[in-house]
Formats: sequence, structure tokens, C-alpha cells
Amino acid sequence: MRIAIITGASSGIGESFLNVVTKEDYDRIWIVARRADRLEALAGKFGKDKVIPVVADLLDKDSIKTISDKLEAEKPTVELLINCAGMGKRGTVEGNTLKDLDNMVELNCNALTTVTKICLPYMIVQGRTFKTGPRILNISSSAAFLPQPGFSVYAASKAYVESFSRALQFEVRKYNIGVTTVCPGPVKTEFLKKATDNKAGEFTGIRALCAADPDKLAAASYKACKKGRGLYVYKVSQKALHVASKLIPTAWILWVEKVTMKQF
Ligand SMILES: NC(=O)c1ccc[n+]([C@@H]2O[C@H](COP(=O)([O-])OP(=O)(O)OC[C@H]3O[C@@H](n4cnc5c(N)ncnc54)[C@H](OP(=O)(O)O)[C@@H]3O)[C@@H](O)[C@H]2O)c1
Repeated sequence: MRIAIITGASSGIGESFLNVVTKEDYDRIWIVARRADRLEALAGKFGKDKVIPVVADLLDKDSIKTISDKLEAEKPTVELLINCAGMGKRGTVEGNTLKDLDNMVELNCNALTTVTKICLPYMIVQGRTFKTGPRILNISSSAAFLPQPGFSVYAASKAYVESFSRALQFEVRKYNIGVTTVCPGPVKTEFLKKATDNKAGEFTGIRALCAADPDKLAAASYKACKKGRGLYVYKVSQKALHVASKLIPTAWILWVEKVTMKQF
């Protein structure tokens, strides 16, 4: 059985990935998140024989075991793993709760690493070429490119995702497994509402101008992943930011941030 696994599939970018992946040739698609009602509704929409809800809280190690137990029981070939589950909480380290800071690291870094580790043995299949080999698609962010005062732990967690995924790409190439790191800028999903405790629902200013549509992002990212791209920075505005982050000293950029964001 050839399967795809999408974490964070109950909303936003993960749900958009599900729309893309259901059009592809996988026997089953396991969709992972906490909100069972949403996962059930999506399974109903796309067919319960094809889309399988796996209700799991990735902040809880015992809950992650639901995925490893299911893999162990069914022994599928994982042809595609999309690590999309993630969260952010805006605010300073001083102002945020310890629980929120911990959860960002736990979900964005540790859970992504654990899910990748438990899926890898089910991705290694002999006799495949890189072109047709399994794929891992990890969602980072353009926040990974630079330190972000006021969103420091989130930005650092996404830098982890980028560094981890790009190194993993080289480690698993010998098994014909491709790893693609996707770095979008702002995307129109529930993310911002949750990140600001409902204080902001929509991006403003420059972020509103570059905010991406999750369906378009998912379709373009999946294509990049199938082509075997290592890093996929989505949208010209974020590509420009990426280049600038490599060329301009970080201290200068932080100084500009200090001047423009008067609270620091
Ligand atoms: N939106 C943006 O501006 C933006 C930009 C760059 C990168 N990203 C990244 O894109 C990814 C998807 O975010 P999104 O924008 O689509 O936001 P979203 O709509 O809030 O989606 C987050 C997903 O993660 C799942 N999730 C959260 N906590 C979880 C947990 N403890 N266990 C299991 N699943 C959990 C949520 O499902 P449940 O709540 O049902 O568990 C949901 O499906 C994240 O990694 C985010 O960092 C977002």
C-alpha cells in the first residue's frame, strides 16, 4: 500500500495540500491533526476509503505513537510525508507564557523530527530512482531567514526546520528520497488569528500585499517537491528577502527592525 501522510491537514496550508494530493495516485492519505470533526469532514468529502483521519496531538509523545503504531500494524510504503503542523505565538520571550514558548519548539521542531524519524523506515524502498522515489516536504517559513524580535521563538523554530531538512536531504539521497523545504511568507489561513489570540485576523501593510493563497502555495510546493527541489521559497517578495538575508549583515537588518518596530 502506497500512502501519503499530511500533518496539520485539518486547516490552512495542510488542507490545501490534501486538495492537491487527493488528485494524485496514492492508495491512502493519512491526515493528522487534533480536530477530529474537521478530519472526519475532509475524509467524507474525498472518500473514507482513500482519506484516513489519524487524530493525534503532536505535542504529546503518547499521541504521536498512534502514528507509529498504525505504521507498524499496516506496514505501508510512505511515498509522501508532508510535515505541515505548526504554530506561532506573537510576543516577546518576556511577555509570552512558558507553555506557549515550549509548545512552539515542541510542535515545530521536535514533533516534526519525530514524525520524520518514525516514517523514514517505511520510505526506504530498494530499486527506485530519485525521479520516482519517496518525498518529504517540510514547511518552514521565510521567518527562518532572520531573527525576528517579537516572534523570536517561532522564527528560530523555522530556522531549525530549514537547517534540519536541508541536511536530511543529503543524508537520505542515497535511498532516493527527496526532501524539500518550503519557505512561504504570510499565508491567508487561521495561523495569524491563533498567533495573536484573535487580536488580528488579517495581515496588514506590506504583509497584506505579499500574503499568499494557500491553494496556490500548496500546488506550487507539491510540484517543486516532485521535481526534487531542495529549497522552495514561495513568491518573488520572499525570494528577495532570502537574498537580502544572505547579503546584508544581520545586525543592520535588526537595527532597521528596531527603528521601525518602536517597542524594542
Ligand atoms: N500562515 C502563514 O502565514 C504561514 C507562513 C509561513 C509558514 N507557515 C507554516 O505553515 C504551517 C501550517 O500553518 P497554517 O498557516 O496552515 O495554519 P493553521 O491553519 O493554523 O494550520 C495549523 C495546522 O497544524 C495543526 N496543529 C496545530 N497544533 C497541533 C498539534 N498539537 N497536534 C497536531 N496538529 C496540530 C492544526 O490542526 P489542529 O488544530 O486540528 O490540531 C492545523 O491543521 C505551519 O507550520 C506554519 O508555521 C504559515
